[in-house]
Order: sequence, then C-alpha cells, then structure tokens
Amino acid sequence: MNILILGSGGREHTLAWKLHQSPKLSKLFVAPGNAGTGEIASNIPIGVNDFSEIKKLVLSENIEMVVVGPEDPLVNGVHDFFLNDEALKNIPVIGPQKAAAELEGSKEFAKKFMIRHNIPTAAYQSFTASELEEGYLFLETLNAPYVLKADGLAAGKGVLILQDLDEAKQELRTMLVDAKFGNASATVVIEEFLAGIELSVFVLTDGKGYKVLPTAKDYKRIGEGDTGLNTGGMGAISPVPFVDKEFMDKIHERIVIPTVEGLKKDNLPYKGFVFIGLIKVGDDPFVIEYNVRLGDPETEVVIPRIKNDLVEVFEAVANQTLDSINLELDERTATTVMLVSGGYPEAYEKGIEMSGYDQINDSLVFHAGTTMKEGKVVTNGGRVMAVTSYGGNFREALKISYKNIEKVHFDQMNFRTDIGFDL
Ligand code: AMP
Ligand code: GLY
Repeated sequence: MNILILGSGGREHTLAWKLHQSPKLSKLFVAPGNAGTGEIASNIPIGVNDFSEIKKLVLSENIEMVVVGPEDPLVNGVHDFFLNDEALKNIPVIGPQKAAAELEGSKEFAKKFMIRHNIPTAAYQSFTASELEEGYLFLETLNAPYVLKADGLAAGKGVLILQDLDEAKQELRTMLVDAKFGNASATVVIEEFLAGIELSVFVLTDGKGYKVLPTAKDYKRIGEGDTGLNTGGMGAISPVPFVDKEFMDKIHERIVIPTVEGLKKDNLPYKGFVFIGLIKVGDDPFVIEYNVRLGDPETEVVIPRIKNDLVEVFEAVANQTLDSINLELDERTATTVMLVSGGYPEAYEKGIEMSGYDQINDSLVFHAGTTMKEGKVVTNGGRVMAVTSYGGNFREALKISYKNIEKVHFDQMNFRTDIGFDL
C-alpha cells in the first residue's frame, strides 16, 4: 500500500517511522516532511492545505491512504474534499471530517458538545463583541484566576489565564473588539479555572468502535519548573504514573465512552485520533480541550508504545473494523525530550547545521524542525528534534535521553532538563 502523511513535525516523523515498519507498506510519502522523514520516505514540497496539489500527488503516485498529522487541513475539510471528489472518494483519510473537526476548530462548539453529552468540563459562557458588557459582568461573578479562550484556531496561543479582574476585562476587550487573535477571537469562551495536574488521553475511533491508546503528559512551558512562555511542547512521558486503574476507569466511563457515543449521536463522522486534554481535580477528571489529531510531542511517546502494525490498524479504521483489532502495548515507559532553537518560542534563527544525533543508538531520534540544505541537515523550526527512550520507569528512560542529548550539537540548542519534575 502507498501511503501519504500530511505534516512536517516530530509527530509526522514518528508516524512515518512506525508505518515504515509495516510489511504492508509499499511507498511512503510525506508532504512536506522534514529531514528525518526524508530518510525513510519521499518528501513532497506541498503545503498541508493545498488540496488541489495533494489531489494531483495522490493520483499520480497511486496513493491508497492519507494520514493527516495537523489540525489545520482537517478543520479546513481535507477529508470532505476527498469524499466529494469522484477520483478520490474511495481513498481512506485518517482524520475526522470537517463537521467533527470543529471539536478543535471551535472551543464553543466543543463546550456545547460536552454539556450536551454530560462530559465533565469547566463551567463557561461565551461572548461576542456586542456582548462585551455581559462578558464583564460574567467575569465579576468568577474568582481569579480568569480563563479566556479565543473560540477559533490560534496556533496554540489563544488561551489567556489572568490573575487580575481588571486585566481580564481589558484582555476580553482586546480579544473581542481589537481582534487580538484575528477572527479566532470574534467569540471568546470564559471559563471557570480548574486547579489540578494535566494529562492527555488519546482515542482512535472508526466512527463505530474505538481503542484507548496510552496516556501521556507533556510539558508545555519553555522554562524549568513549568515557567515562562508556552511552547508546542518540550517533552513528554507515557504512561502517566499517577493514572491508576480507578482513575482510568473514571476517564473511560465519564469521558471516553460519552465522547465516542456523542460523536455518533450528533452524526459527526469521525475516523481518526481524538486527543482529550484532561485535568485531574481532586480525584476526578475534567476535559480541558479536544484536539482532532495526535499531540506533538505526545506522539513521540505514544506511538512507540504500540506494538501493532499501524497500517493494519489504519485499514481497520478505514473499514470500520477497529473492534477486531487487539491493541498490544509495550509495557515500558517512553519519554521524549525536545531540543529547540535558542530564542524559541520567540524569534529564533533557522538554517543552523546539526551534528551528532546520528551517533545515538539506544534512543529513537525524531526530527521536527529540520531540513536539508546543500546536502546537510540544518535546523528549520523552533522545535528541532525529539529524543525518545524506553525504560522500566520514566526516570530510567529520561536518563537515556539525557545521556544521548549530550551527543547532539547545534548552535544555541536548548532543552528542558527537568521533564517529569512534577511526578
Ligand atoms: P487549551 O489550549 O484549551 O489546551 O489551553 C491551554 C492551557 O491552558 C491548558 O493546557 C491548561 O494548562 C490551561 N487551561 C485551559 N483551560 C483551563 C481551565 N479551565 N482551568 C485551568 N487551566 C486551564
Ligand atoms: N502537545 C500539545 C499539542 O500537540 O497540542
């Protein structure tokens, strides 16, 4: 089978690495890919939202399945584009249709979905520019800190958490009236603040059945001890050590089942990954957000713990026979540490030469922001490379990642030395 992956990050390199191991795979393509995917697949310089070029590629290369990495093309309806095209309609796409991708595309849509299906989440109200005064009044009913969320996609930057009421009012105004996040903040969700520890659960569904994938925890802030600006993610651990059977049962009963059943009841066509961002408040799980894709860098620890042939699993998603798959998991812990460019998540340089990562043999090295320039691998993004290791527990696994990171060099390389510090 010829398969195309859309995307260019560590998540996509990990998916490529896993699909590449399948005896069912013939040719693998990644658009646009990175230097890592280029070693095991053909990189094609097409943007993930360029549907007409994707169509040409799929037809000319006899691609028989498309796996969508990031949320953008899903929210823009890439799956629907395939279904509505005579020549493409029988080619399976792994990722939900546009109507279901709204779970990530609109925070308000996601909140309404959760309320409708009785899924535990923070209390909220949403407001548009004409309701600014009502928004202020609602803020006055809440206690600090105040959580403001741009309704639409804002490249992971659309959530503000503010300690001060006046500041919260000011930000609400900037979001609604001054379009701080462009059209994404035309509607703002104001939420009750939930205090607790975060984790993520990944579910794969074919629209009928589902499989719960390993749990993971990521570390989003740039600085040690979870300080400083938010990033795409600086490291991850799977499984999450504080998730015992009792807590997992609660997640399953209260959140996973109602989510999958809710998608069916609401006729939201879903063949793909559901990423459920959770927070543990006391002993109870609450949903912070849904994403309609795998997380990054969570993928770099979740996928390496799945033993099954991933092509077979994706075929089952496409054929709606996922119930017949017996998911086999690696019992070991996997950890990943992200190497980032100096300055990230603010301004940083690209095109910096890299070395040493090819000397690593007891960790998995997944490229994120890398590319080839004049025959050499150079940095090409803020998050550059993820170093994933297995271990009997997360401390053992991290030790191996940190040992191997010492071999990697590029100018201004930065990484967090405290992944797992809070566990
Ligand atoms: P989101 O983009 O919805 O994942 O939000 C980004 C981050 O904001 C989350 O990972 C949480 O750390 C934090 N957050 C979002 N909503 C809440 C909430 N209701 N209470 C506490 N923290 C929150
Ligand atoms: N690591 C968080 C995300 O992928 O959204």
